[in-house]
Amino acid sequence: MTQPIDLAALPADFAWGVATSAYQIEGAVAEGGRSPSIWDTFSHTPGAIDNGDTGDVACDHYHRWPGDIALMKELGVTAYRFSIAWSRVMPDGGGSVNHEGLDFYSRLVDALLEAGITPNVTLYHWDLPQTLQDRGGWPARDTAGHFADYAAVVAGALGDRVHQWATINEPLCCAWIGHLEGRMAPGDTDITAAVRASYHLLLAHGHAVQAVRQAAPYAEIGIVNNLSTIEPATPSEADAAAAVRVDGHVNRWWLDPIHGRGFPADMIEVYGVALPERPGDHAVLAEPLDWLGLNYYFPSAVTADPSGPPPFAREVRRADVPRTGMDWEVDAGGLETLLLRLTGEYGARRIHVTENGSAYPDTVGPDGSVDDIQRADYLLRHLEACARAVRRGAPLAGYYAWSLLDNFEWAYGYDKRFGLVHVDYATQRRTIKKSGRCYADIIRTHQMTHVPVERD
Ligand code: FCB
Repeated sequence: MTQPIDLAALPADFAWGVATSAYQIEGAVAEGGRSPSIWDTFSHTPGAIDNGDTGDVACDHYHRWPGDIALMKELGVTAYRFSIAWSRVMPDGGGSVNHEGLDFYSRLVDALLEAGITPNVTLYHWDLPQTLQDRGGWPARDTAGHFADYAAVVAGALGDRVHQWATINEPLCCAWIGHLEGRMAPGDTDITAAVRASYHLLLAHGHAVQAVRQAAPYAEIGIVNNLSTIEPATPSEADAAAAVRVDGHVNRWWLDPIHGRGFPADMIEVYGVALPERPGDHAVLAEPLDWLGLNYYFPSAVTADPSGPPPFAREVRRADVPRTGMDWEVDAGGLETLLLRLTGEYGARRIHVTENGSAYPDTVGPDGSVDDIQRADYLLRHLEACARAVRRGAPLAGYYAWSLLDNFEWAYGYDKRFGLVHVDYATQRRTIKKSGRCYADIIRTHQMTHVPVERD
């Protein structure tokens, strides 16, 4: 935090948000009619999660949500991105609706609106009902149809009050990390299953866009992808080719089909798996969107690795670069690059940075205070990158810091803390960190200097 930061280019009606997801914060896994999801199964698998942590209790947000909304109000955020647990709403995956589950989210939405905070709802953040996994999961085409039915139910119940919708969070992680690398639920390591899952995730997205629009005519709907800037580790031809493959694997595979370009031909060849295509799918995959969500954390340097799994490349650990507690490189410039790529190469008309943030081993003072200067600096540098991208033409409408709270960080359990608010898991006590105060100051300053223009 050495130089003053310049965020003047961010628009007056910029959405200043924070983000969370259901399994990472809610807890109460066996309450309110919720059935198990694949993350319940995975987190209870011995050895799958650091320290044997699970999301059974997490931040107990299911019971503490009024206090969590009060925290958001204190931070001054204007938008909240959260996800719906499919297995709370439809415990059988399809068919009957659990109204107790829907009511939980309905109350949350009402309270957010009352607090002047715009809800931005993600329909799927990785917690597939286990019952659907038992029937084939994402590698099975039927799962896409069930997702559209579930999307219609949620949009029908909340669509009168929720206007911002996202279908799927980071399909890349579900397909590649969940079905190929095995480090996330359901823990599979099979390229055929992974490619089929990737296809059905995007198909599910397209069907859900249609379903939400039908059920909620005011919906503005997008998808959330985690993208990365990819560089070859060396100038060799092999590494240049590896970088093209990783770009295909991480970025193009997820962006091209939703923009009507089909799945990248070079990657179909790399995977060597036939797509489970049917006539008519192409248009569903390319259903026009109101906005694109970008989750950005770190850049990658890659080298060819012919003996590894597709895409036959691996990340190289660059020396002498700053890193977060996840060992992820810090490079705010990557965020600017990706915002401009979505704008230039994909013609994005509206973008939200739906996640961005950092884990650091926070030290907690005797009074519970957390002086997390590094997280505050990460936040500022990435917001500056957003402003630079806006000056260069990116239609950026909002930024959602990951995360409101420290929470269950998937396979890393509770050790990795991303929150602007510290959570003491023994007592569930919340304490706003210095980074949270810093975000609140930024928001207030921006609002004081930018007055939204009335539109007709
Ligand atoms: C993203 C996930 C989110 C969180 C952050 C750190 O990939 O969408 O749930 O775990 O990483």
